[in-house]
Amino acid sequence: MAETTSTSRGNWNSKLGFILAAAGSAVGLGNIWRFPTEVASNGGGAFLLIYLLCCFAIGFPVMVAELSIGRKTNRNPVGAFKALSSNKLYPLIGFWGVLCGVMILSFYTVVAGWTFSYVFEEILFFTGFTEWATLFADVTHGVKNAIFSVLFMGATVSIILGGVSDGIERATKFLMPVLIGILLIMIGYVAFQPGAGIGFAEYLKPDFSMISAPLIFSAMGQAFFSLSLGMGALITYGSYLSKKENIPEAAAYVTLADVGIAFLAGLLIMPAMYMAESFGVDIFNDAGELLASTDLIFQVLPALFHSLSTTAGIIFGTGFFLLLSMAALTSTISLLEVPTSYVIDEFNIQRKKAATMIGGGILIISLIISFDIALIDSIDFIFSTVGLPLGGFLICYFLGYVWKVENAFEELEQGYHGLHTSLFKTIWPIFIKYIAPLAILYNLLEAIGLITYIQELF
Ligand code: PFF
Repeated sequence: MAETTSTSRGNWNSKLGFILAAAGSAVGLGNIWRFPTEVASNGGGAFLLIYLLCCFAIGFPVMVAELSIGRKTNRNPVGAFKALSSNKLYPLIGFWGVLCGVMILSFYTVVAGWTFSYVFEEILFFTGFTEWATLFADVTHGVKNAIFSVLFMGATVSIILGGVSDGIERATKFLMPVLIGILLIMIGYVAFQPGAGIGFAEYLKPDFSMISAPLIFSAMGQAFFSLSLGMGALITYGSYLSKKENIPEAAAYVTLADVGIAFLAGLLIMPAMYMAESFGVDIFNDAGELLASTDLIFQVLPALFHSLSTTAGIIFGTGFFLLLSMAALTSTISLLEVPTSYVIDEFNIQRKKAATMIGGGILIISLIISFDIALIDSIDFIFSTVGLPLGGFLICYFLGYVWKVENAFEELEQGYHGLHTSLFKTIWPIFIKYIAPLAILYNLLEAIGLITYIQELF
């Protein structure tokens, strides 16, 4: 194994830089593409409520766990488990994370390619080239998808080549406030459009009768996906974190930023769906349920932008998709950083070679998906909805019962001087040892039908 120190592997430049980079990883297509789609297909407000619960009760404790494992070991997810235990089985948790990262990145690149192609769609639409606009809007167009996937992967690899701090920190510092600004302006606009009221009500008034096992399972998967948890992305980012930093505080900022932006995205897209309906976009399926296809937001949002004047449309349409592409980029960077740091640390391969090789390999899968986008749903289900909570469960188990909470405290207290008198010290172990792993396990077993099977036995 390559011996590495924090300095030779790179470090974040500042506390704010780290928070922004981790928030950049968290905020992405998960918030603006995946979250509204899940909300629409899972009964609106009820999903939102369970999602928030999952983020704070499961996501936040797991985030602290990942960051402390990463900072303690200064390693990639596989190396981190090797460093903390001599049992050969535990690094498998890291391997699972690397595999999830590879598979998630393969479809994420295609969807990120859609967002980038919509930048051109908006320009072409507003400058009168409507036929070309239609081509760029076609999410099923294999060749177009493939070209944009290549562009997106190229951008991701080139940032990763520069190392962790400079590119990522600088991009996110500017990106996040502008994204929030645009979301707020668009929410303000949509709020006064026909149909908006129904959308707000669907989103904000939970219908408790909608809460079901599949809804809870989807909400948990969404929380892990959106917070970039369960696959070691934050073990990797934590490994570049200085000992001075207060991990629970940083994790709280990242969780709040991510949840806040997802909440805003729902506030925009749910009413926009009903507004789009009044423009003729089909938002219900044959059973009368809200449509929640993979390309939902790519139908609803352009309908919204196209209702604006040319100048406003160009500014907001292109601006929004450009920002979303950049938000996706700060997430693809973290997805690629996981397998890259693994290969750099464990096989002593140079960053340049590692990132190019792995990025190239993943791109091959993205190209296959480009021509068969139905694959997105199944890969997403296996590696995000099931895979990330499974990884999260194993991380909780490892921290709580193998590495032990006391050792994690020793790591945490270095940047958190008030740890020993804090409420966090009392509550976090309960969540990491019992509440989070049991909740995840119950949901996973329920999803594969085991709970029903056991109930039937008695
Ligand atoms: N959190 C990202 C998003 O919401 O778009 C996606 C993601 C990034 C998931 C990194 C997992 C990960 F490790």
